[in-house]
Amino acid sequence: MTTPPNPPRTFHVKSFGCQMNVYDGERMAELLGAQGMTAATDGADADLVVLNTCHIREKAVDKVYSDIGRLRREYGSRPMIAVAGCVAQAEGAEIGRRAKSVDIVVGPQAYHRLPSLIADAVQGRPAIDTDMPAEMKFGALPGRAQRQRPSAFLTVQEGCDKFCTYCVVPYTRGAEVSRPWAELMDEARALVDAGVREITLLGQNVNAWDGEDEAGRPQGLDGLIRALDRLPGLTRIRYTTSHPNDMRDGLIRAHAEVESLMPFLHLPVQAGSDRVLKSMNRSHTRESYLRLIERVRAARPDIALSGDFIVGFPGESDAEFEETLSIVRESAYAQAFSFKYSPRPGTPAADMDGQVSPEVMDERLQRLQAAINADQLAFNQATLGRRTQVLLERKGKYPGQLVGKSPWLQSVIVENSAAAIGDMVDVEIVSAGPNSLGAVILEKAAA
Ligand code: 5AD
Ligand code: SF4
Repeated sequence: MTTPPNPPRTFHVKSFGCQMNVYDGERMAELLGAQGMTAATDGADADLVVLNTCHIREKAVDKVYSDIGRLRREYGSRPMIAVAGCVAQAEGAEIGRRAKSVDIVVGPQAYHRLPSLIADAVQGRPAIDTDMPAEMKFGALPGRAQRQRPSAFLTVQEGCDKFCTYCVVPYTRGAEVSRPWAELMDEARALVDAGVREITLLGQNVNAWDGEDEAGRPQGLDGLIRALDRLPGLTRIRYTTSHPNDMRDGLIRAHAEVESLMPFLHLPVQAGSDRVLKSMNRSHTRESYLRLIERVRAARPDIALSGDFIVGFPGESDAEFEETLSIVRESAYAQAFSFKYSPRPGTPAADMDGQVSPEVMDERLQRLQAAINADQLAFNQATLGRRTQVLLERKGKYPGQLVGKSPWLQSVIVENSAAAIGDMVDVEIVSAGPNSLGAVILEKAAA
């Protein structure tokens, strides 16, 4: 331990990985802020650095250890180091053994206990908490900060019971749990009061969310979305990530009926071959996925579809990979993420026969990404000339530019406008590249 003699007064939280980690990072920062600590712009000014880690793919663990080493080389013994997130959960006490200079290890379901872990570390006591307590952390966290960006995340559901054979999430994030309705409505109201115009509902299986409304009626994610749609001041609602098997009729109907629900759906399929899908334990087929997309498109014809793909899953043959390419052709994605299979310790697929060579994986990934990129460009070009609305979220790279999102989650750059961050503006799309659109503002839209 290289514990500083005094309790930390400044902190820096660095989040890796998924949007749920980004959300957790923000909640940790707000929690530390509520303890009287102030945010430092980077590790150099921080008495406490929190590495909020991701374990989903590739050498995640090695990367954390090298980050710890780099922090100590750059900043010496000054900052207390806390390892949070999914690597903390998976490695637990092993982190303290391998990296003696780590002061705190805290899992994703236990970070509400950070203040007492910091107190333990200051006293030189071991500070490790990888519990998955029955009570949820959210109830123990302070209310949302008074100032927020125009677009915010709100975790509504955590964990996963699906046990895809390649995936660590069921082990690091635990079982599927839905946060209660009233708590979510309160947090959404607080976010809107703090300036938020768009909320993205988050969960590893967000469309598996269920609960009861104020009147005790059972509700699914569509019910929650309809209630949020009625919140004055909230103009846009999104949700991610969805599992095909939890995509129920009510949610599909909401896409046709709820104006504030944006026309975007992230619906991972992972692979195009039924044999591979079965071996992945995905419990849907190629056909059932394609039929599902048809139903979603019938409800909301302009929906932008997104997905996730894994190439080189153990045993994947050339012909099976071709089926992944063909599902991309049939689905016409607006965007999609694709990854090389990465064996995760403790998951069933890590011990399967037929591990695919890195060269074959590289070649398959390149071909898949070329197909996805072509579709993405085509989708962007199809919006040329269209009039739509953009929520301005940040400054652009060059002076006078502001960047926001279209309803279809495309990045849109507007030049020389009198508008401000947080404004919803009417625009016409005037240029389309592979990764962003250019637009001119027609007028400032009504709030
Ligand atoms: N190897 C490669 N990709 C993975 N994903 C999850 N686990 C692995 C793994 N072991 C991908 C899936 C998932 C996304 C979040 O990460 O595509 O949808
Ligand atoms: Fe992982 Fe599958 Fe659960 Fe997604 S559905 S988090 S890929 S186990």
